[in-house]
Amino acid sequence: MIKIENATYKQNDRIILNNVSINLFQKNIAIIGLNGSGKSTLIKLISGLIVPQQGSVFIEGLDTKKNAKKIRKKIGCIFQNPENQIVFPIVKDDILFTIKNQDLTLHEKEKRLNKVLNLCEIPHLKDNNTYFLSGGEKQLVAIASILIKEPSYVLFDEPASSLDLVYKKLIFNTIRKLNSINIVATHDTKFIENFSRVILMDKGAIIRDGNAKEIIDYYHLHNTSFIK
Ligand SMILES: Nc1ncnc2c1ncn2[C@@H]1O[C@H](COP(=O)(O)OP(=O)(O)OP(=O)(O)O)[C@@H](O)[C@H]1O
Ligand SMILES: [Mg+2]
Repeated sequence: MIKIENATYKQNDRIILNNVSINLFQKNIAIIGLNGSGKSTLIKLISGLIVPQQGSVFIEGLDTKKNAKKIRKKIGCIFQNPENQIVFPIVKDDILFTIKNQDLTLHEKEKRLNKVLNLCEIPHLKDNNTYFLSGGEKQLVAIASILIKEPSYVLFDEPASSLDLVYKKLIFNTIRKLNSINIVATHDTKFIENFSRVILMDKGAIIRDGNAKEIIDYYHLHNTSFIK
Protein backbone atom coordinates (compact mmCIF):
# COMPACT_ATOMS: atom_id res chain seq x y z
CA MET A 1 0.00 0.00 0.00
CA ILE A 2 1.01 3.61 -0.62
CA LYS A 3 0.27 5.98 2.22
CA ILE A 4 0.60 9.74 1.86
CA GLU A 5 0.26 11.66 5.11
CA ASN A 6 -0.25 15.43 5.15
CA ALA A 7 2.27 15.90 2.36
CA THR A 8 3.06 19.43 1.28
CA TYR A 9 5.49 20.13 -1.54
CA LYS A 10 6.74 23.65 -2.27
CA GLN A 11 9.00 25.20 -4.88
CA ASN A 12 10.41 28.60 -3.95
CA ASP A 13 7.67 29.15 -1.38
CA ARG A 14 4.95 28.32 -3.90
CA ILE A 15 2.76 25.46 -2.66
CA ILE A 16 2.45 22.87 -5.41
CA LEU A 17 0.92 20.06 -3.36
CA ASN A 18 -1.12 21.20 -0.40
CA ASN A 19 -1.46 18.88 2.59
CA VAL A 20 -2.31 15.74 0.61
CA SER A 21 -3.37 12.65 2.57
CA ILE A 22 -4.38 9.48 0.81
CA ASN A 23 -4.01 5.67 0.86
CA LEU A 24 -3.57 3.97 -2.50
CA PHE A 25 -4.09 0.24 -2.81
CA GLN A 26 -6.67 -0.38 -5.54
CA LYS A 27 -5.61 -2.15 -8.72
CA ASN A 28 -5.97 0.68 -11.25
CA ILE A 29 -6.09 4.25 -9.98
CA ALA A 30 -6.30 7.29 -12.24
CA ILE A 31 -5.36 10.84 -11.33
CA ILE A 32 -7.13 13.49 -13.38
CA GLY A 33 -7.30 17.27 -13.30
CA LEU A 34 -6.52 20.36 -15.32
CA ASN A 35 -3.04 21.30 -16.55
CA GLY A 36 -0.97 22.42 -13.59
CA SER A 37 -3.26 20.83 -10.97
CA GLY A 38 -0.39 18.78 -9.54
CA LYS A 39 -0.78 15.31 -11.08
CA SER A 40 2.84 14.91 -12.23
CA THR A 41 4.10 16.31 -8.94
CA LEU A 42 2.02 13.74 -7.06
CA ILE A 43 3.42 10.96 -9.28
CA LYS A 44 6.98 12.20 -8.60
CA LEU A 45 6.24 12.32 -4.89
CA ILE A 46 5.01 8.71 -4.87
CA SER A 47 8.01 7.56 -6.89
CA GLY A 48 10.41 9.17 -4.40
CA LEU A 49 11.88 11.41 -7.14
CA ILE A 50 10.90 14.30 -4.89
CA VAL A 51 10.12 14.29 -1.17
CA PRO A 52 7.65 16.50 0.69
CA GLN A 53 8.91 19.37 2.88
CA GLN A 54 6.09 18.58 5.29
CA GLY A 55 4.40 15.23 5.85
CA SER A 56 5.46 11.82 4.58
CA VAL A 57 5.05 9.26 1.83
CA PHE A 58 5.26 5.55 2.69
CA ILE A 59 5.55 2.68 0.25
CA GLU A 60 4.70 -0.53 2.11
CA GLY A 61 5.71 1.25 5.29
CA LEU A 62 8.99 2.55 3.85
CA ASP A 63 9.43 6.32 4.09
CA THR A 64 10.53 7.81 0.74
CA LYS A 65 12.83 10.17 2.66
CA LYS A 66 14.89 7.31 4.05
CA ASN A 67 14.53 4.27 1.81
CA ALA A 68 15.02 5.51 -1.75
CA LYS A 69 17.00 2.47 -2.89
CA LYS A 70 14.59 -0.16 -1.56
CA ILE A 71 11.63 1.78 -2.92
CA ARG A 72 13.18 2.05 -6.39
CA LYS A 73 13.03 -1.76 -6.64
CA LYS A 74 9.31 -1.81 -5.98
CA ILE A 75 8.26 1.04 -8.28
CA GLY A 76 8.41 1.54 -12.02
CA CYS A 77 7.72 4.90 -13.68
CA ILE A 78 6.64 5.59 -17.24
CA PHE A 79 6.49 9.13 -18.54
CA GLN A 80 4.87 10.81 -21.50
CA ASN A 81 7.95 10.94 -23.70
CA PRO A 82 9.52 7.53 -24.37
CA GLU A 83 12.50 9.17 -26.14
CA ASN A 84 14.03 9.85 -22.73
CA GLN A 85 13.67 6.24 -21.64
CA ILE A 86 15.10 4.39 -24.64
CA VAL A 87 18.88 4.10 -24.69
CA PHE A 88 19.96 1.12 -26.79
CA PRO A 89 19.74 0.66 -30.56
CA ILE A 90 18.01 -2.74 -30.45
CA VAL A 91 14.64 -3.24 -28.75
CA LYS A 92 15.49 -6.43 -26.83
CA ASP A 93 18.79 -4.94 -25.53
CA ASP A 94 16.98 -1.86 -24.34
CA ILE A 95 14.39 -3.91 -22.46
CA LEU A 96 16.96 -6.34 -20.99
CA PHE A 97 19.19 -3.50 -19.79
CA THR A 98 16.79 -2.76 -16.93
CA ILE A 99 17.51 -6.16 -15.35
CA LYS A 100 21.19 -6.28 -16.32
CA ASN A 101 22.39 -6.35 -12.72
CA GLN A 102 19.69 -8.58 -11.33
CA ASP A 103 20.66 -11.97 -10.10
CA LEU A 104 18.78 -13.93 -12.77
CA THR A 105 19.86 -16.70 -15.12
CA LEU A 106 20.02 -15.97 -18.85
CA HIS A 107 17.08 -18.32 -19.29
CA GLU A 108 15.02 -16.40 -16.74
CA LYS A 109 15.93 -13.06 -18.37
CA GLU A 110 14.90 -14.40 -21.79
CA LYS A 111 11.64 -15.69 -20.31
CA ARG A 112 10.87 -12.30 -18.78
CA LEU A 113 11.75 -10.56 -22.05
CA ASN A 114 9.31 -12.68 -24.04
CA LYS A 115 6.66 -12.26 -21.36
CA VAL A 116 6.77 -8.44 -21.45
CA LEU A 117 6.98 -8.35 -25.25
CA ASN A 118 3.77 -10.39 -25.36
CA LEU A 119 2.14 -8.34 -22.61
CA CYS A 120 2.81 -5.13 -24.56
CA GLU A 121 1.87 -6.84 -27.85
CA ILE A 122 5.21 -6.09 -29.47
CA PRO A 123 6.93 -9.49 -29.95
CA HIS A 124 7.44 -8.56 -33.65
CA LEU A 125 9.63 -5.61 -32.58
CA LYS A 126 12.12 -7.69 -30.56
CA ASP A 127 15.07 -7.25 -32.95
CA ASN A 128 14.09 -3.88 -34.42
CA ASN A 129 16.17 -0.75 -34.31
CA THR A 130 14.77 1.56 -31.62
CA TYR A 131 15.67 4.61 -33.72
CA PHE A 132 13.09 3.76 -36.38
CA LEU A 133 10.18 2.92 -34.07
CA SER A 134 7.05 5.06 -34.22
CA GLY A 135 6.07 7.09 -31.15
CA GLY A 136 3.48 4.50 -30.11
CA GLU A 137 5.91 1.60 -30.57
CA LYS A 138 8.54 3.50 -28.56
CA GLN A 139 6.13 3.98 -25.69
CA LEU A 140 5.30 0.25 -25.64
CA VAL A 141 9.02 -0.57 -25.62
CA ALA A 142 9.55 1.90 -22.77
CA ILE A 143 6.71 0.24 -20.83
CA ALA A 144 8.16 -3.24 -21.48
CA SER A 145 11.55 -2.00 -20.16
CA ILE A 146 9.90 -1.06 -16.88
CA LEU A 147 7.67 -4.13 -16.61
CA ILE A 148 10.59 -6.54 -16.99
CA LYS A 149 11.68 -5.48 -13.47
CA GLU A 150 8.30 -6.79 -12.26
CA PRO A 151 7.56 -3.78 -10.05
CA SER A 152 4.74 -4.02 -7.49
CA TYR A 153 3.65 -0.48 -8.31
CA VAL A 154 3.72 1.09 -11.76
CA LEU A 155 3.29 4.85 -12.10
CA PHE A 156 2.30 6.27 -15.47
CA ASP A 157 2.41 9.99 -16.19
CA GLU A 158 0.33 10.66 -19.29
CA PRO A 159 1.48 7.46 -20.97
CA ALA A 160 -0.70 7.93 -24.06
CA SER A 161 -1.38 11.63 -24.39
CA SER A 162 0.60 12.07 -27.60
CA LEU A 163 -0.60 8.82 -29.19
CA ASP A 164 -3.41 7.98 -31.60
CA LEU A 165 -6.55 6.09 -30.58
CA VAL A 166 -5.14 2.69 -31.51
CA TYR A 167 -2.06 3.16 -29.33
CA LYS A 168 -4.04 4.73 -26.50
CA LYS A 169 -6.15 1.58 -26.47
CA LEU A 170 -3.06 -0.66 -26.59
CA ILE A 171 -1.42 1.21 -23.69
CA PHE A 172 -4.52 1.12 -21.48
CA ASN A 173 -5.16 -2.55 -22.36
CA THR A 174 -1.61 -3.32 -21.27
CA ILE A 175 -2.14 -1.45 -17.99
CA ARG A 176 -5.29 -3.45 -17.27
CA LYS A 177 -3.45 -6.74 -17.81
CA LEU A 178 -0.80 -6.00 -15.15
CA ASN A 179 -0.83 -7.62 -11.71
CA SER A 180 0.77 -4.54 -10.17
CA ILE A 181 -0.98 -1.60 -8.55
CA ASN A 182 -1.11 0.98 -11.34
CA ILE A 183 -1.42 4.72 -10.85
CA VAL A 184 -2.03 6.69 -14.02
CA ALA A 185 -2.06 10.47 -14.38
CA THR A 186 -4.00 11.18 -17.54
CA HIS A 187 -6.28 13.42 -19.56
CA ASP A 188 -7.63 10.39 -21.45
CA THR A 189 -10.78 10.00 -19.35
CA LYS A 190 -12.41 7.78 -21.97
CA PHE A 191 -9.85 5.05 -21.24
CA ILE A 192 -10.15 5.00 -17.45
CA GLU A 193 -13.88 4.43 -17.16
CA ASN A 194 -13.34 0.92 -15.81
CA PHE A 195 -10.57 1.86 -13.37
CA SER A 196 -11.20 0.97 -9.74
CA ARG A 197 -10.70 4.50 -8.49
CA VAL A 198 -10.33 8.03 -9.88
CA ILE A 199 -8.81 10.96 -8.03
CA LEU A 200 -9.48 14.51 -9.15
CA MET A 201 -6.89 17.17 -8.40
CA ASP A 202 -7.19 20.94 -8.48
CA LYS A 203 -4.60 23.53 -7.43
CA GLY A 204 -2.38 21.00 -5.68
CA ALA A 205 -5.15 19.34 -3.70
CA ILE A 206 -7.35 16.29 -4.06
CA ILE A 207 -10.86 17.64 -4.50
CA ARG A 208 -12.78 14.45 -5.39
CA ASP A 209 -11.98 10.77 -4.96
CA GLY A 210 -14.21 7.83 -5.76
CA ASN A 211 -15.53 5.52 -8.42
CA ALA A 212 -14.59 6.24 -12.01
CA LYS A 213 -17.96 7.17 -13.47
CA GLU A 214 -18.90 9.53 -10.66
CA ILE A 215 -15.58 11.42 -10.69
CA ILE A 216 -15.22 11.61 -14.48
CA ASP A 217 -18.80 12.91 -14.82
CA TYR A 218 -18.15 15.50 -12.13
CA TYR A 219 -14.94 16.59 -13.87
CA HIS A 220 -16.59 16.99 -17.25
CA LEU A 221 -19.46 18.90 -15.75
CA HIS A 222 -17.39 21.25 -13.63
CA ASN A 223 -13.95 21.45 -15.19
CA THR A 224 -14.32 25.03 -16.34
CA SER A 225 -15.62 26.20 -12.99
CA PHE A 226 -12.47 25.46 -11.07
CA ILE A 227 -10.24 27.51 -13.37
CA LYS A 228 -9.34 30.76 -11.60
N1 LIG B 1 10.14 22.09 -9.98
C1 LIG B 1 9.18 23.00 -10.12
N2 LIG B 1 9.48 24.31 -10.03
C2 LIG B 1 8.52 25.26 -10.14
N3 LIG B 1 7.24 24.97 -10.37
C3 LIG B 1 6.88 23.69 -10.47
C4 LIG B 1 7.83 22.63 -10.33
N4 LIG B 1 7.18 21.45 -10.48
C5 LIG B 1 5.89 21.77 -10.69
N5 LIG B 1 5.71 23.10 -10.68
C6 LIG B 1 4.42 23.81 -10.86
O1 LIG B 1 3.44 23.13 -10.11
C7 LIG B 1 2.20 23.09 -10.80
C8 LIG B 1 1.75 21.65 -10.93
O2 LIG B 1 2.56 21.02 -11.91
P1 LIG B 1 2.33 19.54 -12.41
O3 LIG B 1 3.34 19.29 -13.46
O4 LIG B 1 2.30 18.64 -11.24
O5 LIG B 1 0.85 19.62 -13.04
P2 LIG B 1 0.06 18.54 -13.89
O6 LIG B 1 -1.27 18.37 -13.22
O7 LIG B 1 0.88 17.35 -14.10
O8 LIG B 1 -0.18 19.32 -15.26
P3 LIG B 1 -0.25 18.75 -16.77
O9 LIG B 1 -1.64 18.19 -16.93
O10 LIG B 1 -0.06 19.97 -17.60
O11 LIG B 1 0.82 17.74 -16.95
C9 LIG B 1 2.43 23.81 -12.12
O12 LIG B 1 1.94 25.11 -12.01
C10 LIG B 1 3.94 23.80 -12.30
O13 LIG B 1 4.39 24.91 -13.00
MG1 LIG C 1 1.71 16.47 -15.80
